[in-house]
Amino acid sequence: MTRSILVVNSKGGCGKTTVATNLAGYYAARGKKVALVDYDPQESSVEWLAMRGSDRAPISGIAASREPVRIPKETDYVIMDSPAGLHDRPLADLVRKADTILMPILPSPIDVRAATHFLSEINKLRKVVNADVRFATVANRVRENTLAAHDLNEYLDALKLPNGKKLPVLASLRASQNYIRAAEKGLSIFEFAPVKTLQDRDQWARILRWINHAGKAKSKSKKAA
Ligand SMILES: Nc1ncnc2c1ncn2[C@@H]1O[C@H](COP(=O)(O)OP(=O)(O)O)[C@@H](O)[C@H]1O
Ligand SMILES: [Mg+2]
Repeated sequence: MTRSILVVNSKGGCGKTTVATNLAGYYAARGKKVALVDYDPQESSVEWLAMRGSDRAPISGIAASREPVRIPKETDYVIMDSPAGLHDRPLADLVRKADTILMPILPSPIDVRAATHFLSEINKLRKVVNADVRFATVANRVRENTLAAHDLNEYLDALKLPNGKKLPVLASLRASQNYIRAAEKGLSIFEFAPVKTLQDRDQWARILRWINHAGKAKSKSKKAA
């Protein structure tokens, strides 16, 4: 079964490309067949891929704003990176393609307010496009023990999905030079020496488990149906 993971937030700079490229690198390094589909005309994910050494686990890149989206056969993971300012129809079109949606969010009041509006827009869309879609958020560039981090957690804890359930907050990813270095080299943090990235890998563990579990829950419910 192909998994389609959309990384989305209408706010720029919150970490969409960082999350998308790290996911792509993680699965590729584990031998999975990965397509990284970049819907952002700025093509940061495509550029990331261009920096990736040919000795690295391969990832198929698609610049969706200027070429047709043809997913190679037997792809295990389609990772979709999205542009800032995504709303309405173009947003609905991407949500429709996803079985899993991840929304990175920065711990700043402006980003939190923007995310509230964006989340309610997505919640409305989810009712019409795909009832099965799994949605969760990831706090990004969090400096631990700061007031901003505390406020963000309180806010995120209160967020609800349309079914009344709490929106899963999968992780607080710290601000780390590892992400900057990985971005420069076309790598994910999972492709650096474990000792240098232990803390980051730890923070990702829950995201990866949730994605994996979401897939199992879905195929189970399909079997039962
Ligand atoms: N956890 C992090 N630690 C350090 N730098 C980060 C982190 N997340 C993102 N960045 C940096 O912040 C900038 C914006 O992130 P990016 O992933 O490009 O956001 P978006 O795709 O949502 O616009 C990039 O330069 C990226 O390398
Ligand atoms: Mg981006």
